[in-house]
Amino acid sequence: MKEKIALLKEKIQSVRIKTPEDAEKFRVAFLGAKGELKALYQELKTVPDGDKKTIGQEINALKKMAEDVLNQIDIEEVKTDKKHSNDLSRPTYENQSGTLHPLTLVKSEIVSIFEKIGFSISEGPEIEDDWHNFSALNFPADHPARDMQDTFFIDCPNPELSLRTHTSSVQVRVMENQKPPIRTISPGRVYRNEAISARAHCFFHQIEGLYIDKNVKFSDLKQTLAYFAKAVFGDKAKIRLRSSYFPFTEPSAEVDVSCSLCESKGCSVCKNSGWLEIMGCGMVDPNVLSACGIDPTEYSGFAFGMGLERIAQLKYRVSDLRLYSENDRRFLQQFQY
Ligand code: DAH
Repeated sequence: MKEKIALLKEKIQSVRIKTPEDAEKFRVAFLGAKGELKALYQELKTVPDGDKKTIGQEINALKKMAEDVLNQIDIEEVKTDKKHSNDLSRPTYENQSGTLHPLTLVKSEIVSIFEKIGFSISEGPEIEDDWHNFSALNFPADHPARDMQDTFFIDCPNPELSLRTHTSSVQVRVMENQKPPIRTISPGRVYRNEAISARAHCFFHQIEGLYIDKNVKFSDLKQTLAYFAKAVFGDKAKIRLRSSYFPFTEPSAEVDVSCSLCESKGCSVCKNSGWLEIMGCGMVDPNVLSACGIDPTEYSGFAFGMGLERIAQLKYRVSDLRLYSENDRRFLQQFQY
């Protein structure tokens, strides 16, 4: 048995592998199901018990040696002829690096725009309780305003839990935990029970903004939004505010930005109006300040909330919301930066 092992060792050592076919032949001959090593293992059964351990170890070592021979050969090098593999002027393989998702690009851009004027970033949970998503934001129980947002309730023993319908829930968490002055933005994913189409999805992303201090006025809100619009859509961008309603702000407004695609001349994207709706905003309702432990006689503030998909749609002319979550590489690869 010992001689057989020594012989096989010599045989393995003498093999020269030059092509992928040689490598396969080597594998079959020595390591295959009907190969020489298998035969040795069979024969091990006939060895007297006292010798089994040492002989077994020797066969194992031989097997490892054969495996190492196979693992160490570089099939690429074997395949290509020597001259070619030494060609130092040959271009390198293409670098397959990934790209950032368009929503990530827009989020980072918006975050850095607000960071420049002193806003911090805050985050909150996607599974939220009734207090933070609704009650503290001045949505009275059974008030029809709750129907503005089709909520996904969570089927669990706590009937109060749902997927957050907006990132305004994070303002409540921030105000409960920090003393003014507060300047923060909260990016995150939100959920609504809507049929999926080119214009709506059951999940999407928002950025919420909140500024609380002494003497914050509506004009501060307007200037902040004008600064934001110019930073995102270019120096010529203008904003206009249309009066609106949200339970958590009073007064409330809808914000439009001048259409940069047609320079406000009118096109299919702005439906010939020259304006594009980009967010909601307003002065934080005193009831919300009180609910979060901030004295509304001492402090005031503004808030705003925008959809990231909408901003990315306008910046990159994305025509169908579903593209953001379908992982089609042809779509994603357009956002090389
Ligand atoms: N939470 C609102 C929504 O999801 C957006 C919003 C509107 C946020 C006005 C605000 C605001 O902070 O002031 O539709």
